[in-house]
Order: sequence, then C-alpha cells, then structure tokens
Amino acid sequence: MSKKSFDFAAAVLAWFDDHGRKTLPWQFDTTPYRVWVSEIMLQQTQVATVIPYYERFLARFPSVQALAEAPPDDVLHLWTGLGYYARARNLQKAAQALVTDFAGEFPATVDEIATLPGIGRSTAGAILSLSRQQRAVILDGNVKRVLARFHAVSETGPAQEKILWPLADAHTPHERVHHFNQAMMDLGATVCTRSKPACLLCPLQEKCAALAQGEPTAYPGKKAAKVLPEKSTTLLVLVNAAGEVLLEQRPPAGIWGGLWSFPETAAADDESLKRVLKDDWGLTRKQPEWLPERGHTFSHYHLRMRPVLVRKASPQQVTGRAQHWCRLDDLPALGLPAPIKQMLADFAAGQGVEK
Ligand code: ADE
Ligand code: SF4
Repeated sequence: MSKKSFDFAAAVLAWFDDHGRKTLPWQFDTTPYRVWVSEIMLQQTQVATVIPYYERFLARFPSVQALAEAPPDDVLHLWTGLGYYARARNLQKAAQALVTDFAGEFPATVDEIATLPGIGRSTAGAILSLSRQQRAVILDGNVKRVLARFHAVSETGPAQEKILWPLADAHTPHERVHHFNQAMMDLGATVCTRSKPACLLCPLQEKCAALAQGEPTAYPGKKAAKVLPEKSTTLLVLVNAAGEVLLEQRPPAGIWGGLWSFPETAAADDESLKRVLKDDWGLTRKQPEWLPERGHTFSHYHLRMRPVLVRKASPQQVTGRAQHWCRLDDLPALGLPAPIKQMLADFAAGQGVEK
C-alpha cells in the first residue's frame, strides 16, 4: 500500500484554505509571545473557553516584560477557572527566564525554546512556526490522534511518540508550515475527534489506514485504564463576626499551588476536629457544623472535600501562611481554584453560611 501518490501536506493545506480557523484572537498580530500564551492556554482547554481568558490575559500582560514583572497573584487571578495552574506559574517563570537569559526575546530554535519552563518540543514548534513561519514540527494531543489513525499506530505513550515524531516530520512541508500546523491541530480538534471522527469531511480519508480498516476509533490504542485514587480533606470555613471568611494562600508548589483556599485539616470526625480547632486555632466549639461534601477530580486523583462551618471565629493566626479575611460579596482579585470559587459563590447566595 503506497502512500507516495498521496500528497498529505497538499491535502491538509487545501482543507485549511476552505475550513481552517483563521480569525481566532491569537491568529492576529502573531508575535511569539501572543502565540505562546495561546498555546499554553489551549493545551488542556478548548478554544471557546480560552478566548475570553486570552483576551483578559493579553490586556493585562501585553508583553513578556509585563508578565515577568507582574505580581504572581495577578497572574493566578486571571487563570482562575482555567485549571492546571502549573501552566500559569510556568508561564511567568518562563517570562522571567526570557527577560534574564534572552534579553526578553524568544530564541530562534526549538531546542532553546524548549528549555523554558512549561514549554515542550511541540509547543516550541508551534511558537516558531505560527509566529515566525519557521519550519518546525508539532505533535500535540490532537495531531497525535490524527497521525496515529492515518498510519494505524496502536502504541501509546513514549512508544507512540517515538513512531509519530518522524512521521510528523516527514509530512511537514517547507512552505506554509504555519498553515499546515494550524490545520493539523484544527483537524484533530474538529474532524478527527476522539470519539466521533467525521471521516467523510476529512482531507485524509483517501489514504487513512484506520478508516480503511473500518474502525477509526480503534486508534490510537487504549491507554491502560487508570483508577484514580481518592483523597479527602476537611476545609475550615471560618466566618468572623463581620461575616467574612478566612482564605489562606497555599504553598507555591503542588496542587492549587499559590492559589487561595480555605485552611485544611485531615481531621474527619467531630472529636478530632474539635481538637484541631482548639489546639491550632484557639477555638472552642461544642458541635462542628459539617456542610455537604463536595468533590473535584484532578488528573491524578479525586478529592473529597468536607467543608465545616465555624461561625464567629476570630482565631489566632497560626499557620504561617498568608491569610485574608474576605467579604463574600466582594472577593479579592486573587487566584481561586474553581471549586473554591464556586463554594464561595454558593455561600454568598445563602447556601450554608447564613447567620
Ligand atoms: N490547540 C493547541 N494549539 C491550538 C491552536 N493553535 N489552534 C487551535 N487549537 C489548538
Ligand atoms: Fe481521522 Fe477519519 Fe481523517 Fe482518518 S479519515 S484521519 S480517522 S477523520
């Protein structure tokens, strides 16, 4: 079965001319900085969700310099709701590295760009091709799926990458590489989707091996199913006499790093909780008021959150972390994890903490 007669790049480029996305905010004024921010936001988030976040982020941080110098709380605040906050922390670290090590300019090679925090080989390739029209190869999640199907590659993980990078390189044209790369990402996102590939609309259908075999979704192979472990934590919803709640800044690394949340404890029952309130916070309570449990799933585990309401609290500050008493109707401009923001909104709407 020869693929020689089929011009992969030409088919993809012709599809791009008719169907590719060309008017997204990051497709104007395609500086490396603007492309980079969009690629990072788009890594785990869909285009429609990204657009308003992108506009706000670029308005507040219009340049590498502005991002490098910004207070980290401002960066995380504009990321609130996008999730995967390491992306935002890395974005700022990389901006600082660009200022310190590269005079604020993006370097010209994939290898140099990929030394920056949070930027892998594919993102580096996207930055160079989309912003500078340099010939650079990309292989993000969407492109992997297209190529795995086109070539009927069942492998997953590192074995898949080893097979797909050379194939991606071989398909990447020398002309119009920015259109080709954009088209491949768009194809994966809109045509060759994970569960319902629209093969009849696909420019690759003529020579697609997975389609020829009759079951495109059989590729790539399934990753070993992972059962997410479950963790649980107790959230202390401390409300003072003025009706304000206490938020604490989380440690810089780890889950929700640098974001603001309720103080936590492992105490899961009345007795141990009363001990924690007494010993750590100097608060004596007869009967803890447990609120309904909430859940949140991260990429690596599921978190069960048990909020407990502690009214009329004026605790000693003992955690050694930055703390902030917040009015529910006027939340501060800090980074808040989406589930915590939702809880605060529910409290503000009167669910659970009314006096
Ligand atoms: N996903 C990642 N990068 C993208 C881009 N440039 N356009 C559309 N979807 C993407
Ligand atoms: Fe994906 Fe179908 Fe196109 Fe093959 S023909 S690349 S399976 S959409």
